Amino acid sequence: MNYLDTVQELYKTAALSPQASLCCVTSKTRYLPELVIPDVMEEMNYGCGTTVHFGDLNPMENILYIGVGGGLEALQFAYFTRRPQAVIAVDKVPEMMDKAANNFKLAAEINHWFKPDFIKLIQGDALDLPVEDESVDVAAQNCLFNIFKEGDLNRALSEMHRVLKPGGRLYISDPIATKPIPEHLRKDERLRAMCLSGALMYQEYVDKIVCAGFGMIEIRAKRPYRILDKQRYSLNENILLESIELVAYKNPIPVDGACVFIGETAIYYGAEETFDDGKGHLMKRDIPLAVCHKTAENLRALNRNDIFVTEATYHYNGGGCC
Ligand SMILES: C[S@@+](CC[C@H](N)C(=O)[O-])C[C@H]1O[C@@H](n2cnc3c(N)ncnc32)[C@H](O)[C@@H]1O
Repeated sequence: MNYLDTVQELYKTAALSPQASLCCVTSKTRYLPELVIPDVMEEMNYGCGTTVHFGDLNPMENILYIGVGGGLEALQFAYFTRRPQAVIAVDKVPEMMDKAANNFKLAAEINHWFKPDFIKLIQGDALDLPVEDESVDVAAQNCLFNIFKEGDLNRALSEMHRVLKPGGRLYISDPIATKPIPEHLRKDERLRAMCLSGALMYQEYVDKIVCAGFGMIEIRAKRPYRILDKQRYSLNENILLESIELVAYKNPIPVDGACVFIGETAIYYGAEETFDDGKGHLMKRDIPLAVCHKTAENLRALNRNDIFVTEATYHYNGGGCC
């Protein structure tokens, strides 16, 4: 049996009998006016953060959601699009598809604005998406890709890149590890399927996304998720897992590397009105400028006493240099 069969079995069970404790959500469910979420969708919130960033969404866009689970986030996306089939939701597990279809019917009973056909459910695999090249504006996945082993993760990311239109956005919420997870846990297929032992470290994860062809990434949140404690998991020391929320843009990768915004801000406070770093960034005196990590590092390397660059917050919130 392949580890992907274990994944399938686990989520079959999680579809047939919802398990509120399967995943731990690090942020509160986002409610919107007139959006009523059926209890069963809350119980089946098998994600670790959110991929639904309200401020970014345009009702005319088409959205692809991979790994539908109980359907909570697909419903939240449909809240914005409100058109037949504007959200395509893919899942590999038939029982999960049936459950999501049923949950959408329940949602339609308590949300006057929603119709189940706003979401097109397709059975399919994240590793071989049943979706045409360059056909979606937005793609999203929450707590699925961390489960994949390296080759499959590369494949899943490159599939997302393939189906996005140029300039399209990939929203991800996934666990990451603050220390390498040892092999005895990585090999444990059940723990991996439960999103507890496949997680990569931050830099490895970001590098994979860039490698798939995404030229700009914004880290929207990074929060504590779980502790792999040394007694229970036979470790030398505890390992903190975090949940990361990010958006990756299908933009060309600049020649000097991808722009990754991690919540760093630069302020020029020198004698001139402006400062030009010679790399396309004109800083106005005393005006904070959100900078990507590459620019932050370049500015730090100048060692000037009239430019201040903050530490990363990993909660990037818009604006910027690139
Ligand atoms: C951890 S759950 C996350 C569900 C949902 N995204 C959420 O946040 O509640 C993973 C989901 O991915 C589905 N899944 C597992 N393997 C898959 C694959 N290879 N392709 C597509 N979906 C898959 C599971 O059935 C399950 O619905």
